[in-house]
Amino acid sequence: MKDIEHRAYVGGEWIATASRFDVMDPASGARLAEVSDADAALARQAVDAAHDALPSWRSRTAHERASILRRIRALHAEREDELATLLTREQGKPLAEARAEIRYAAGFYEWFAEEGLRAYGETIPSPFPGHRVLTFRQPVGVGAAITPWNFPSAMIARKLAPALAVGCTFVLKPSELTPLSALAIAQLCEDAGVPKGVVNVVPTSDAARVGEVLTADSRVRALSFTGSTAVGKQLYAACAGTVKKLALELGGNAPFLVFDDADLDAAVDGLMVAKLRNGGQTCVAANRILVQRAVHDAFCEKLASKLAQVRVGPGLEEGVTLGPMIDARAIAKIEAHVEDARDQGAKVVLGGKSLGGSFYAPTLITGVTSQMQMANAETFGPVAGILTFDTEEEGVALANDTPAGLAAYFYARDVGRVFRVAEALEVGMVGAGTGLISTPVAPFGGVKESGLGREGSKHGLEEWTELKYVCVGP
Ligand code: SIN
Repeated sequence: MKDIEHRAYVGGEWIATASRFDVMDPASGARLAEVSDADAALARQAVDAAHDALPSWRSRTAHERASILRRIRALHAEREDELATLLTREQGKPLAEARAEIRYAAGFYEWFAEEGLRAYGETIPSPFPGHRVLTFRQPVGVGAAITPWNFPSAMIARKLAPALAVGCTFVLKPSELTPLSALAIAQLCEDAGVPKGVVNVVPTSDAARVGEVLTADSRVRALSFTGSTAVGKQLYAACAGTVKKLALELGGNAPFLVFDDADLDAAVDGLMVAKLRNGGQTCVAANRILVQRAVHDAFCEKLASKLAQVRVGPGLEEGVTLGPMIDARAIAKIEAHVEDARDQGAKVVLGGKSLGGSFYAPTLITGVTSQMQMANAETFGPVAGILTFDTEEEGVALANDTPAGLAAYFYARDVGRVFRVAEALEVGMVGAGTGLISTPVAPFGGVKESGLGREGSKHGLEEWTELKYVCVGP
């Protein structure tokens, strides 16, 4: 791979700005790179470029666009080592997980290369004699994306791939904590033959100044955001003025229910994934572990023994299974949640302490209640807080007792219960007997305050297209 780019990518040019900002290695705390710092003018230039590139990109055939997406996918495979290493260096996750993320990201280009070929319209039997009623799926136009640091490659792919597939052009503002993977993606797009101006990347240390441009400009017709609920609500309001199409993938507070008929070993294995993937820093991370009283002690014993085997360290070190948290703020939030639980009488069975720098020990806490901070907000760390319940109804009611509604998990063997609980959970995604639900083929998204819209799957095209109805008279 060419040297990793540190410059913004606008209109097919690499642009060095006068000011730059630091990107840190979360494992060592050392400076990794200095990256171009886009201001509002550069963000506007990116929208200009995307707007100018739109007519020619949307008029290409879906097949031409698909073949470029396939090249982007192939470049992910060819450059997997470099991309994964870069991802670990700027984000911290263990290298094996970074590789898994690069494959996950590549999967979106592969999937949407195919789905773009199936952006079908319809013919509808007309009620008017001699008329034809038709629908077309057309690209929404210039699209913008604001993406998070926890999956610096896959969260871009989940937006960029469908946008490109249907003929939208794209302006991306990546997280200021992980802009290098975003710039590597711009490089892949350039090398794969994406025309100038179709993809633009504007890293910035000031999310608000670029966000204001992207939300206020009426030429930007769609905005897709993955991140916190608080910022999602601000963007929702900011897009009202230009009535943009919005996809919001916001925070969760995922319950993980273990019923008394569950296979406890399988449930522990599932929880290890749902809790510890990316160190617990995912919006679908199991945040409230609800265990039916009869199996509580056996489950906690098995879980403690698995958590004790987790190896903490820098993500590039062989054998490490839990990397650093993203930064000091993340550690402070975890510490606050654990302190609050301790103060309110919960018992720290394992861990419960910072290990220096951005590392936090895998932690098991029992006796958590719904009043505690960790039951009401995402801890975003390797902390398993256990609550108990007695009946199925109580478990489901506790699970639903939150304004968030992104993901939920549960383990049970009774088939009737499996369907009852899956249907009763107020979330967009359910893992029934599994702790891993993320895949390009399935619709990712939430209900309640966890967001709007779905990404991935055939439904992911809808975020980037408008349905047009044409009535042809006799
Ligand atoms: C997220 O945490 O925002 C998404 C994680 C995933 O795709 O699994």
